[in-house]
Order: sequence, then structure tokens, then C-alpha cells
Amino acid sequence: MFLSLTNYAVTFPTAPNVEISKNGDIIVTEVVREGVRKLEAYVEEMSSTNAVSAPMNVDKVHASVLKLWNVVQSQPGISEEQVSRIKDLYDSVINSLNTKGPETKLKAAPQPRTRRASSQFLRPQVPGGASISEDRIPLLHLKRKVGTSWEYSNNLTGVYLDILNEIATSGTSFKDKNALLTGVGKGSIGVEILKGLLSGGAHVVITTSRYSRATVEYYQAIFQRNGSKGSALTVVPFNQASKQDVEALIDYIYTSLGMDLDYILPFAALPENGREIDGLDDKSELAHRMMLVNILRLMGAVKNKKASRNFVTRPTQVILPLSPNHGLFGNDGLYSESKISLETLFNRWSAESWGEYLGLAGAVIGCVLIKRACYCASDLFRRWTRGTGLMNAASLVSQELESYGVRTFSAKEMAFNILGLMHPLLFSITQVEPIWADLNGGMDRLPDLADITSRIRSDIMKKSDSRRAIARDNASDFKIINGVEAERVLQTVHVTPRANFKFDFPTLPPAESLQDLSKLRNLVDLDKVIVNTGFAEVGPWGSSRTRWEMEVRGDFTLEGWVEMAWIMGYIKHFDGRLKNGSLYVGWVESKSGEPVDEKDVKNKFEKDILAHAGVRLIGKKLIASS
Ligand SMILES: NC(=O)c1ccc[n+]([C@@H]2O[C@H](COP(=O)([O-])OP(=O)(O)OC[C@H]3O[C@@H](n4cnc5c(N)ncnc54)[C@H](OP(=O)(O)O)[C@@H]3O)[C@@H](O)[C@H]2O)c1
Repeated sequence: MFLSLTNYAVTFPTAPNVEISKNGDIIVTEVVREGVRKLEAYVEEMSSTNAVSAPMNVDKVHASVLKLWNVVQSQPGISEEQVSRIKDLYDSVINSLNTKGPETKLKAAPQPRTRRASSQFLRPQVPGGASISEDRIPLLHLKRKVGTSWEYSNNLTGVYLDILNEIATSGTSFKDKNALLTGVGKGSIGVEILKGLLSGGAHVVITTSRYSRATVEYYQAIFQRNGSKGSALTVVPFNQASKQDVEALIDYIYTSLGMDLDYILPFAALPENGREIDGLDDKSELAHRMMLVNILRLMGAVKNKKASRNFVTRPTQVILPLSPNHGLFGNDGLYSESKISLETLFNRWSAESWGEYLGLAGAVIGCVLIKRACYCASDLFRRWTRGTGLMNAASLVSQELESYGVRTFSAKEMAFNILGLMHPLLFSITQVEPIWADLNGGMDRLPDLADITSRIRSDIMKKSDSRRAIARDNASDFKIINGVEAERVLQTVHVTPRANFKFDFPTLPPAESLQDLSKLRNLVDLDKVIVNTGFAEVGPWGSSRTRWEMEVRGDFTLEGWVEMAWIMGYIKHFDGRLKNGSLYVGWVESKSGEPVDEKDVKNKFEKDILAHAGVRLIGKKLIASS
């Protein structure tokens, strides 16, 4: 029922670690973050400011200047001219801060609509809440709209960090909450949020654009591991780039499942690397429709469902996946346009008619290191990855990048940050006003990010190249001095597994067990009796051996895959000359006649074997095609 930290925090929090071996191999691993071994410590770290020149707390500067101004005005010995000169000076300070003067500051901040102000909400009762510096802005912070711009809010940030602390220490509950999450593929931020929601007892509807048995089993395993009392998981095939799918999905949730959504996290995304303005193609347009147009449609569809059912007291919180990448690195099609355009929703929330039904929390997501390049610098990292093929280039630079004071995040950490925005307290605040969560880790404030990351990467590559050259040189010396044989002893031999079939002959019953049959003597003419003998079983999962493997382990052994591929005709045994004239004994692909290594059988035929084995529903389509 509560977001349990036993499941959720096992590998948490970690830091990227880059090592270059003496052979020049670059090894990137995740290690336990020094001094941040618990979630509470992570929250403490997030409450601190980074070393990057953080912007001033403008509210604080305003207040100080205002105090100074009042002191100046109250001085009896100051002439009119001096007052006017000081006022000019004061005005230019305020202008340089690009904010409003004391007159505007003295006026109460305009409150949109006639709703409760967020200041009326009480902070959660957390012992030893996060401590925030008055002058500097924490790594994770919330902004609120003041006039036409978004400004750092000390109050909201305090509430948010207290909430994170509360979740870190005692968890939180999502009991009786319904959530819709899109974009929850393997390694995504969404899938980590899903784990948190299930641990907290929510009913989550997730979508997949790759609906298959393997995908469903993947989510089933996540549910089995993370689901808690009252939680439920529904997996729906869905293409977020399709208007029809968007409407059908919301209709399914409200009509068939009979749910009203509390949260929507439309996180489906498609990278568009390598496209400048002269290369915008259909993929860019598709991605734009998916990451912008259809997010709006999805929200619109939910609003319609709520309005038609008159659900006016149960708004849905939408977490908008924003990005600091506003064309910063270029080369990413319409990605930045999709993200920046989502920000217009903050204005539309009060200007249009749906604010009663939907609340907004915009999460500006920083660099999240997952199994591929991060979105905020995707093209940059993509270019770097090319040619190495060894690792995620974002991970490669992140360790040193952090030494500049910015913070990169793991998908788990970012999910935790986002789960904090879904806490009942911030949920209530988003009913009153949209909130802007800056989860950048200071990345946006680092000047020359592109240059710095380029330099880090080239330094690492140089170091790796020189170590590789030294290792090669040492190996040549060794070979000359000690001989080829001596060197071979030091080389690692990779042994690949081979199938080892064992077909034990079945135990035969002793002759005495057939004694009873002697009673039939002279009653039947044995010349006319048909006798069936043998030992075999063929079923939807192949033979008794393969069926047993599937029933016990849910997977085949190497021998099992080979046997299934053979029974199903994907491979056959061959003994003779191949097309190229060479002699070969072993398995070949039935279609092409090309040799197949036993260890590759699973990779090559797994999809087809699983699609055509096991108990399946037989529909008209299948019968027609057979
Ligand atoms: N990671 C970062 O550094 C970063 C930075 C800033 C902003 N963001 C934003 O945060 C959100 C999540 O990022 P992420 O890194 O977790 O993304 P991700 O790992 O790339 O996941 C996106 C998911 O979208 C799904 N998807 C792809 N095509 C789809 C389609 N046509 N219809 C429906 N779903 C589709 C895929 O899952 P299935 O195919 O399995 O459904 C995929 O796993 C995105 O909006 C991203 O722009 C991320």
C-alpha cells in the first residue's frame, strides 16, 4: 500500500564511474555514490546547491534592495536630488535582474481564478525536513508563475524537498489512485515510475508500442516484483502517434475499465537525432505528433470524459515531460519544438476551459543516463558513440561532468524526483496553479556544456589510445623475448557453450510384469494382433523434454532451443559439402542452407518459435493463413 523502499531502493543511488584499464579498455560502471548511500542522503544532496554559478534568489535580492530603499527614504539628511539618484541606481539594479521594481513587488501577486492559494497548504510533517539555503537555488527546485515569468519559489521548493524526504524515510501511498503512463519501455524513466506507483498500491494503465508475449511477460514480472496490496496493472497496445489510438485508449479506460484517472504521464518519445532544418522528414513529423499534438489530444479526450460525467471535483494531474534542450545542441529534428511547445499549456491552463479538470506539473528533466544517449544532448552523444560501439557515450563523460558541479541522474533517481511531484500535497497545489519543477541538476546553468563534454570525451579517448598502444608494444616485446607459445598461455580463450543432448533409454518393465498377459494365451491369434510400442510425446511445446523445460523454467535450455528449432523445421542436420565447397557437419538453416552455430539458435529463432508454439488462440485469420 505504501511506496515500499525495500523493493524500490535496492540499487539506489549510484554514480557513474569511468575507468581505463591498462589495455586501454574504457569500462563504465555504476558505483555506489560516495556519501549518498541512502535516499535521505540523496534528498539532502538535492537540497544543496551546485558549484555552477547558480542564479540569485531574486526574491531575496528584491527584499534586501527594498529594505535599503526604505532606509534611504527615512534618512532626514538626504536631499531630493540624492534620493532621485539613488532611485535611478536602484532601478538599474532591478532592471539588471530583469524583474519588476518595488511598486510591482508591493502589489500582491495576481492569483489566477478564485482558487485556494498554494500557501494555504500545510507542509507535510517530516522530522528534520530538508534545509535550503536562503540565497542559492537547490539542485532540484520548483518555480511558480509570477506575472508572465516563472520564478524560483522558496516555499514550493521547501514543500517539495520535504515531500522527497518524507518519501525517502517513510514512503507514500498511491492507494485507490489511477494512473496512465505511456513510454515505459525497458530502461526508460517511465518504467521506474511504474515500479514506484505499483509499490504504492496504484492501479496503473501502461501502454506499449511493442505488444508481444515477451513484452507482456516483462511487465508481468515487474508487477510480480513490485505490486503491493490494491495495485493493478493493465497493459494496452498503443501508438501515441495515432489520433485513433489516443481516443480509443481514453475510451477504453473510462468506458471499459470504468476508471477515472488521477495521473497522466505521457512519456512516450522518439529520438530524432541527425536532422537539421533541411532534413526534417516524416519521422520528425511523426515524433512531433506523438510528443506534442497527441499529448494535447490525450488531455483533451480526458477532459471530455470528465466533463461528460460531470467529474468536477476530481481533477487529473498531468506530468509534462519537458526538456532543457531548446535547440541547444541542434541536430534533433523537431524534438526541441515539441518540448518547448508543451510549455504553452501553462498559459492555456488559465486561458482555456479545462483547468477545472486537469492540473499541470511540468518536469524539466535533466540528463538521465540510461542505456543510450540522453535526450538533452542526444545528438552530441550519438556522434561520440559512433565508432566506439563500446558504451553509452553519455555515461562516458558524466563522471567528469559532475566534477563541474552539475548532477546527472539515473532513471531511478529521476523517477523518484517525479514521484515526489505526484505526492498528494503537490497534487493539491496543481489544482490551484500549475507548477514548474526544475529537475536539471544544474545542467542548464553550465556555460559551454558542448565544449566541456567534447573535451572530456577527447581526453578519455586519448588516454585510452595511448594505453592501448603501450599494451600492444609490451605484447610485441613479450612475444619476441619469450616466443609465441609463451604468449598464447596468457591469452584468454572464450569457450562457447554447445548443446549436449542426453537421451536416456526409458526403463523397461521386467518380463514378470507381463505375467498377467499369459492368461490370454490361446485366446487371441497373435498373427492378427497389432501392437503399438514406443515412447514419445508431441504437443504445443514440442516433445516431453521441451514441454518440461517450459513448464519448469518458463524458458528452454540451449538443447531445448535447438530441439524446438529442429522440430519446427527452422534448422536441419547437414553432413556434406556446403555451397562454398567446404566440408561441414552440423546444423544449417533450412531456408538458406547456411550453417548455424548452436549458441545462435535462440537469438535467430526465438521470436518465431515462441510465436508458433505453446497454447494459442486459433482465430479465423490463423486458419485462413494455414
Ligand atoms: N532521458 C533524458 O535524458 C530526458 C531528458 C529530457 C526529457 N526527457 C523526456 O522524458 C520522457 C521519457 O524519457 P525516457 O528517456 O524515459 O524515454 P525512452 O527511454 O526513450 O522511452 C520512450 C518510450 O516511448 C515508447 N514509444 C516509442 N514510440 C512510441 C509510440 N509510437 N507510441 C507509444 N509509445 C512509444 C517506447 O516504449 P515502447 O515502445 O515499449 O512502448 C519508449 O520506451 C520523454 O518525453 C523525453 O523526451 C528525457
